[in-house]
Amino acid sequence: MTDVVIFGAGGQLGLELKMTQPSACRAVYATRAEVDIADAEQVTRYLDSANPSTIINAAAYTAVDRAEEEPERAAAANAAGPRNLVAWATGSGARLIHVSTDFVFDGSAGEPYKPSDEPRPLGVYGETKLEGERAVLSAAAGHIVLRTGWVYSRHGVNFVKTMLRLMNEREQLSVVEDQIGTPTWARELASICWALRDNTACSGIYHWSDSGACSWFDFALAIQEEALTLGLIDKRASVLPIPAKQYPTPATRPSYSVLDKTDTRAALGYSGRPWRHALRDMLVDMKHTNKDQNT
Ligand SMILES: NC(=O)c1ccc[n+]([C@@H]2O[C@H](COP(=O)([O-])OP(=O)(O)OC[C@H]3O[C@@H](n4cnc5c(N)ncnc54)[C@H](OP(=O)(O)O)[C@@H]3O)[C@@H](O)[C@H]2O)c1
Repeated sequence: MTDVVIFGAGGQLGLELKMTQPSACRAVYATRAEVDIADAEQVTRYLDSANPSTIINAAAYTAVDRAEEEPERAAAANAAGPRNLVAWATGSGARLIHVSTDFVFDGSAGEPYKPSDEPRPLGVYGETKLEGERAVLSAAAGHIVLRTGWVYSRHGVNFVKTMLRLMNEREQLSVVEDQIGTPTWARELASICWALRDNTACSGIYHWSDSGACSWFDFALAIQEEALTLGLIDKRASVLPIPAKQYPTPATRPSYSVLDKTDTRAALGYSGRPWRHALRDMLVDMKHTNKDQNT
């Protein structure tokens, strides 16, 4: 008997869900190699066999810029995938917790986005994620869409790891200062997924990130300070703020994507942690993991 099936087990969130799994919970983890969520037959076969009461979908096509070149691949994972999962969940009386993104918003708001605010994505990634959200929300009540943003961890490719690499390689780097959001350590996000799973009264849209707000430039400076203190980098590169228009990317990103977490905090009785504290803890975790791997 399985309590929870997690899809996207090889990604940042999937790996942290495994690390934070409550001991009493019987969970199974499916990587992309085991189940392609865009394939309805594979999904049905796997879920019929596991027969979980909850599904957590951490699988997604997350390459924001590449999505502009590969809209079909992005739509397969981000729209058809959740459609397949919610069809099985609804037919079997299971609950789906589906993770989505702050990039469903266009960034024109001057204050944190509430779950009820109108999404208006600027690119293919956000559009396909919104399609997935709508599939989940249009099914029977009880399912959850959990939006988050700026996710990082010691796994995979993310802004923190890219900054550490560039700070080691270069004397100087330029980082965008006019896009504002909130970093989210995947481990904190994983704990929120488990808490939502335990709180069976929760349904509909929830928002989660760590607490506070910053620009990518602020985030880069914080990464540098913490990494120097921990000895993860051994020299100080010069970090220069630039406007987004000086760093053109295939996908347009929202200039403001801070999420309002009031409802999630109230529902779970947890306020979260300042993003800088979470960043420090992740870097400490990374340092210990690197040390263990080198001994
Ligand atoms: N990363 C961020 O900054 C960010 C920001 C906002 C929201 N989110 C959302 O947070 C969730 C977790 O993101 P993450 O950072 O953990 O992403 P991630 O590290 O890119 O992991 C996503 C995982 O999904 C897998 N996957 C992709 N297509 C699949 C498919 N068709 N079937 C099964 N698995 C598939 C990927 O496998 P492969 O590696 O083999 O492709 C990967 O292991 C996603 O819903 C994402 O949209 C992320």
